[in-house]
Amino acid sequence: MTVTEETAPASHYDRIGGASSVKAAVELFYEKVLVDPALAGYFADVDMAGQRRHLALMLTVVLGGPNEYTGRGLAEAHQPLNIPVEHYAKVGEYLTVTLTELGVPADILADVQIVLGQVQDQVVAAGDRSDA
Ligand code: HEM
Repeated sequence: MTVTEETAPASHYDRIGGASSVKAAVELFYEKVLVDPALAGYFADVDMAGQRRHLALMLTVVLGGPNEYTGRGLAEAHQPLNIPVEHYAKVGEYLTVTLTELGVPADILADVQIVLGQVQDQVVAAGDRSDA
């Protein structure tokens, strides 16, 4: 019997409703990020499907969902984009607002903030890293 399977706490990803909730969140999040003039430019050459995929991957990562992603690492994908910390903060804020609008519980939101802090140095430009 696999006790761990029955007693392991559900991930945040599962608690908010898994893939279908992430999909709903992506729609809301997308409307905020892609209409912000400071952020839209990053995605100008990325096709629509790629943009939505990005947001879904981002949400899945910060919610501790299943890691089915086999693409480039976060640093490899973002370092060429030279993202300043202000833009990273904006995206994080839109993510928090989106999850709040969807009624995601406070403990999950708090953990999302922690993950956003943890991956920041991989995403932002080298000169803007917290240890720089
Ligand atoms: C927690 C923060 C973030 C996570 C977890 C994340 C996740 C990812 C992942 C997994 C990829 C790789 C996609 C691929 O290679 O197919 C990617 C690419 C990308 N990310 Fe992020 N990202 C984050 C923050 C940001 C921010 C703040 C921006 C811009 C302001 C951004 C813009 C992009 C762009 C433009 C791409 C390239 C998309 C493409 O070429 O298809 N990301 N991101």
